[in-house]
Amino acid sequence: MSYPYQVRSKEEYEEAYKRSIEDPEGFWANVAQHFVWKKPWTKVLEWNFKEPSVKWFDGATLNITENCIDRHLATLGEKPAIIWEPNHPEERVRTVTYNRLHKRVCQFAQVLKNNGVKKGDRVCIYMGMVPELAYAVLGCARIGAIHSVIFGGFSAQSIADRLEDAGAEYIVTADGAYRGEKIIPLKSVIDDALIGNKTVKRVIVYTRTRTPVSMIKGRDVWWEDEMERVEEQAPSGSPGGGEVQAHGQPSEESATDLNTSQSRPGAAAKSPHRGDLEGLAVEMSAEDPLFILYTSGSTGKPKGVVHSCGGYMVWTAYTFVNVFQYQPGDVHFCTADIGWITGHSYIIYGPLAAGATSVMFEGVPTYPDAGRLWDIVDKHKVNILYTAPTAIRSLMGFGLAPLEGKDLSSLKILGTVGEPINEEAWHWYDEHIGKKKCPIVDTWWQTENGGVLISNMAGITPSKPSFATLPMPGVQPILVDEAGVEILGNPAAGNLCIKAPWPSIIRTTYGDHERCRQAYFSTYENLYFTGDGALRDEDGNYRITGRVDDVLNVSGHRIGTAEVENAINMHSAVVESAVVGYPHDIKGQGIYAFVICPELHGGEEATRLNIIQTVARIIGPIAKPDKIQFVSGLPKTRSGKIMRRILRKIAEGETSAFGDTSTLLDPSVVEEIAKGRTLP
Ligand code: WT7
Repeated sequence: MSYPYQVRSKEEYEEAYKRSIEDPEGFWANVAQHFVWKKPWTKVLEWNFKEPSVKWFDGATLNITENCIDRHLATLGEKPAIIWEPNHPEERVRTVTYNRLHKRVCQFAQVLKNNGVKKGDRVCIYMGMVPELAYAVLGCARIGAIHSVIFGGFSAQSIADRLEDAGAEYIVTADGAYRGEKIIPLKSVIDDALIGNKTVKRVIVYTRTRTPVSMIKGRDVWWEDEMERVEEQAPSGSPGGGEVQAHGQPSEESATDLNTSQSRPGAAAKSPHRGDLEGLAVEMSAEDPLFILYTSGSTGKPKGVVHSCGGYMVWTAYTFVNVFQYQPGDVHFCTADIGWITGHSYIIYGPLAAGATSVMFEGVPTYPDAGRLWDIVDKHKVNILYTAPTAIRSLMGFGLAPLEGKDLSSLKILGTVGEPINEEAWHWYDEHIGKKKCPIVDTWWQTENGGVLISNMAGITPSKPSFATLPMPGVQPILVDEAGVEILGNPAAGNLCIKAPWPSIIRTTYGDHERCRQAYFSTYENLYFTGDGALRDEDGNYRITGRVDDVLNVSGHRIGTAEVENAINMHSAVVESAVVGYPHDIKGQGIYAFVICPELHGGEEATRLNIIQTVARIIGPIAKPDKIQFVSGLPKTRSGKIMRRILRKIAEGETSAFGDTSTLLDPSVVEEIAKGRTLP
């Protein structure tokens, strides 16, 4: 059995693609009919890229959590929705069935309501990778609150900026998060972020690490107390499918083996109280915002990318089922953090909308050793593994010993995302993980896209190492030159743009629509500009070559050079700085900073460490420069613009061929900088 909208052959792909371009409205209406809508749409698509304004399924109403949970209960109630693998391998696995997920999401939705959260309110979620994070995300979606998940690696300052930008009044966090050997003191970071904050009314704190925290009266409440209160509110003492637990079945906290939990099909549907809680599933317009996710751009300030309910749901489910060729019963393991879009779309929304089983991993691939991912694949009989090239490269570095004794035979499909994958890593993944039997999907997409735009479909359309290959149905990529003229014919190289909207295209940047227009729709008229460069081969396959703007991709994390420069410049000794990327064996790109510091108090090394700490404090550890070179000047044009092209060459190790330097104010500075290059 497959999905009605699942493409099953190359011919079907070609047919679907053709139809999606010729008749996008008919095509997507046909896909969307397989979801649960409260009211049908009046118009499938209306758009212009000038404003921009994009509306999919306008007039329709829905609640995405009913699509991700409720509609599966009758058939999949006792099937695992989430299998949670803890950071410490000796800790118990938690298996969250769809029934259990329903109960917890409804319960937490009620908690949010009890704490004053209403439709449209912004809720910031700053948690580790625990099932409660999924409950929080879906609890928000249940009542129409807009979630804004912030990755645990961001600092207090970054959180403060995001809270302010979103006007968030509510926070869901935890005392701490485990990450390998480390504990991140989440609540204490939140406390710092809230110094001077005037909008946040309530902080809900989940207990995970038992890290001591200070709770502020009237503002901070415990997750457990709030959940219990809801449990007591319900007349039977257990709301929404609570009988799963009430009848003595193992809770998700202990049910590591599903065969031991007696399945009672249909039981949840008969709950006298489910009705009340279902009332919490707020009727949302297809175009109502579902969430905000902040991402870096070429300016100093992150943008709040806004996705809407209807289109995002359809796209994540469609691409999940087609790219990974998910079959009912398969176990899907996406190693991303839910703090990034990949986790939103391919741990939570896409898989759950498809009634899939999604593995959620709290820890890191190298803890307790470099065999951890393979242990998880073996233990949970993972069928689909979706990870980042940087993880593959880093694990490659440990050789084959960590693979010994690990049974990877359950794997059927492998995927990568986040950055270009080099051929060496691709072949290692193919040979040693997939044993040459698993198709690899190289999925290209962006936070702004909501889901995969260019990728092969596993086993359906051909893969080609280091190529993302072909567009999904509904996606019309084109390559343009600097002037925006389309480059026709194959092969070709140029800047990658998309011609028309797909259902989960960015709708706006929160609170500043003009910024959205500027960033994505103004470089080239009537086109969405990705910021990436790409090649197209004879057969029309796309190979993404990397960003053409001032955005870095470090270990698959997007970081704007301007943001890092701003942070470096906060250090009192720094006069000016310029940041560029350079090729890094494991991270893909490393961060190279050229810094002007007239006086190095305490010496070079101490200042260097201090600057790194400053960046960690202002942005977060993910943005720490790998290299800092102190310079006396920067190569600037007469108009004062830094020539990054030259700095990039120096960072890459170039010593003489810098191209034309005649427009520089002081060409001699280039040679001086090149001589002092910080060696790897
Ligand atoms: C940027 C988007 C999409 C989730 C993870 C990153 C780069 C992404 C690929 C790929 C080559 C890729 C692009 C893109 N990128 N996937 N398969 N091949 N490059 O999301 O933080 O929004 O970053 O990541 O440069 O623009 P993001």
